[in-house]
Amino acid sequence: MLPRGRVCLLSFALWIGSSVARLPGTQHPLLTPHNDEKTRADEYEFKHPIRKIAIIGAGPSALVAYRDFVQAGFEVRLFERDDVPGGNWHYTDEAPADTPVPNVAIPLADFVPSFPPPGVDLPFSTDYESDTEIRKDHRGPKPVWDTLTSNAPSFQELPWPAGTKWELTHYQLRNYVRAFASYHNINSNDDNPAVSYNTRVELVEKRLNDQGEEDGWRLWLKKLVPTGNNTSRATWWTEDFDAVTVASGRYNAAVIPSIPGLSEWVQNFSGHISHSRQYRRPQAFEGKTVLIVGASVSGSEISRDINAHAKQVIQSIHPAAHYRVINYLRRVPQNTTIVSEIKQFLPLASGASFESGQIELKNGTIITGIDHIIFATGFRYSFPFLPQYYDDAAYVPHEGSSTDVTPFLPADGSHIRHLHLDLFYIRDPTLAFLGMNLGTQSFSYSDYLSLALAKVWSNTAKLPSVSEMWRMYDKVLEDRGGHGKHFQFLGPTRLTANIRFFIGWLNEAAVKYGGKQIDGLQKYVPEVNDYWLYSHYGGALKENVTTKAMEANLFGAIDIESQIGLFQVDSQEVAYQLMFDDNW
Ligand SMILES: Cc1cc2nc3c(=O)[nH]c(=O)nc-3n(C[C@H](O)[C@H](O)[C@H](O)COP(=O)(O)OP(=O)(O)OC[C@H]3O[C@@H](n4cnc5c(N)ncnc54)[C@H](O)[C@@H]3O)c2cc1C
Ligand SMILES: NC(=O)c1ccc[n+]([C@@H]2O[C@H](COP(=O)([O-])OP(=O)(O)OC[C@H]3O[C@@H](n4cnc5c(N)ncnc54)[C@H](OP(=O)(O)O)[C@@H]3O)[C@@H](O)[C@H]2O)c1
Ligand SMILES: *[C@@H]1O[C@H](CO)[C@@H](O)[C@H](O)[C@H]1NC(C)=O
Ligand SMILES: *[C@@H]1O[C@H](CO)[C@@H](O)[C@H](O)[C@H]1NC(C)=O
Ligand SMILES: *[C@@H]1O[C@H](CO)[C@@H](O)[C@H](O)[C@H]1NC(C)=O
Ligand SMILES: *[C@@H]1O[C@H](CO)[C@@H](O)[C@H](O)[C@H]1NC(C)=O
Ligand SMILES: *[C@@H]1O[C@H](CO)[C@@H](O)[C@H](O)[C@H]1NC(C)=O
Ligand SMILES: *[C@@H]1O[C@H](CO)[C@@H](O)[C@H](O)[C@H]1NC(C)=O
Repeated sequence: MLPRGRVCLLSFALWIGSSVARLPGTQHPLLTPHNDEKTRADEYEFKHPIRKIAIIGAGPSALVAYRDFVQAGFEVRLFERDDVPGGNWHYTDEAPADTPVPNVAIPLADFVPSFPPPGVDLPFSTDYESDTEIRKDHRGPKPVWDTLTSNAPSFQELPWPAGTKWELTHYQLRNYVRAFASYHNINSNDDNPAVSYNTRVELVEKRLNDQGEEDGWRLWLKKLVPTGNNTSRATWWTEDFDAVTVASGRYNAAVIPSIPGLSEWVQNFSGHISHSRQYRRPQAFEGKTVLIVGASVSGSEISRDINAHAKQVIQSIHPAAHYRVINYLRRVPQNTTIVSEIKQFLPLASGASFESGQIELKNGTIITGIDHIIFATGFRYSFPFLPQYYDDAAYVPHEGSSTDVTPFLPADGSHIRHLHLDLFYIRDPTLAFLGMNLGTQSFSYSDYLSLALAKVWSNTAKLPSVSEMWRMYDKVLEDRGGHGKHFQFLGPTRLTANIRFFIGWLNEAAVKYGGKQIDGLQKYVPEVNDYWLYSHYGGALKENVTTKAMEANLFGAIDIESQIGLFQVDSQEVAYQLMFDDNW
């Protein structure tokens, strides 16, 4: 394994910000008073000052936000449903519960919010016996497995030590994230009163003040702590805030496609069918014939991981598979059987075994003799604590909360709408979503987003007017080819452009209003690619690619020749894209 050539190649090194630093009191040469006034008239003005902020989550995004908000002088409260910080990187042998088939409504796909009996005085406590399932549901085990490898750029103030490998175990990443939390005094053993672990946000509502005007947010909170071997105590209460940052992660709601006949199979044989987020160790598949549905990162990495243990690994691929999927498949051993998409699960004969069940592929072939099926079919955005903003969710507002709500969360959970910079809710920018983009490096991109929140909410950077935010949104909508699953996807080109935008905007604001400046990510260095390729593919990307999937032409309509051509011509470009995609 190649060591890291330099400390945190991917993190901040260019002091682009310093080029705009100027002496205090000097006027900005490009802003005449006239221009300045015009700008002000077009700026968004918050109706109420923002002093107290809630952060939902204690994953990497939330921890960065906590740092920036505290530094900006806010009163901050952070709520995390799990018992420790780390988010996605808190691995446990305990796996999430089965994903229901057919899928439950996306707004409830992560958890069903839990409330105290109506009318009771808060805080209200109750004791549970036999708490394993309740605690599991409360904390939400994460979609990480024992052998998962990972990579992440460093947090600004905590560079990876020199010589740190590019490919890390997720245990190393967990330790690193927890060290970052400790550094900011918010680890679970720091007993920082600003932070509530074991506390799940059940509902976020817009609060009405005594005059009946919308004024900030009310959070409904539930804390669940073990009280004995087999018992726990739940306590509900509410807290009010001026602004809310949702940093609850993107991978909380697993999805399994609706395929004819599958429901009956699941009803009869739930133990034989799982989702990739439940995968923990390959030994569970010793000597088994395993069908993996999906060939993105999870599908292909799990396929690879169980290869030495399973009797046979079959992987079913979507016809819409694109070059990114071909890339993931390249890491799958050649003795993997690649098949096309599933058409249906044929009806089970009464009393028949799971193994005798028959699965029909879209091309008419029937496969049978499967011991276990893993659906590596991805995740959807789910915010059970914001039901009022979904297209079709049932929601009865509590007394004292606003009924004036406009949905912006599509019921299928495929994307999030009506955010400025994928960050501020345009209709009320006191609500923000952090870490929701795909095709970015979560750790380093959070720095830009959370600093923007800290500055805008402390009035040391300005949002444009509402009409200008909508105009920018429409442009983004057009650039990204409309709403859909790809809507929050950035990739290197947009990511670079966004970072430039944030640097320009936030550093200019720092010159004008004071406060922290921000550096750029170090620009792309070819060596980074080489390290990445070496550790991920053993350098193989320079060779020509054929996988069994390509040989069998399972990609249907897409032109394999041109895809292979893409590898040859643009392999560095492809690697660069992958590197910016949380892909390890
Ligand atoms: C299998 C897998 C592998 C990955 N590999 C990589 C990789 O190698 N490199 C990389 O950079 N990224 C990788 N990622 C992406 C990963 O999501 C990010 O690295 C990072 O964890 C995102 O941070 P976050 O804080 O936004 O979200 P998360 O880490 O998901 O944290 C969200 C937190 O919010 C909490 N929460 C959720 N709902 C509530 C609620 N209602 N109340 C209170 N708390 C709540 C959760 O418990 C969690 O702790 C991977 C993701 C997966 C699924
Ligand atoms: N560090 C690591 O090694 C690692 C490992 C795993 C995951 N991750 C990260 O975790 C995130 C989620 O990855 P993921 O792989 O779980 O989800 P994902 O990327 O959303 O992949 C789900 C895949 O399932 C496919 N699919 C859906 N329905 C299907 C069907 N009926 N038949 C066949 N295929 C079907 C989808 O194809 P379509 O899109 O064409 O519908 C898609 O390719 C990513 O950010 C990833 O980078 C990282
Ligand atoms: C926990 O409680 C449940 C229900 O009371 C009981 O069935 C179970 O055996 C208990 N487990 C232990 C370890 O005591
Ligand atoms: C928990 O269970 C263990 C083993 O069953 C027992 O020894 C211990 O006394 C129990 N503790 C409590 C607090 O009930
Ligand atoms: C694939 O081949 C390797 C190397 O021969 C072997 O160790 C492994 O068990 C095989 N796996 C499967 C699923 O056939
Ligand atoms: C259908 O796909 C299977 C699995 O890839 C393959 O073995 C078979 O030859 C295909 N059948 C047809 C009719 O194309
Ligand atoms: C599946 O379950 C149903 C009842 O839930 C039963 O009637 C049927 O026989 C079962 N099928 C098999 C194959 O076990
Ligand atoms: C890759 O394929 C091209 C076109 O078929 C061929 O010219 C080239 O020599 C091949 N490269 C390797 C490393 O096999």
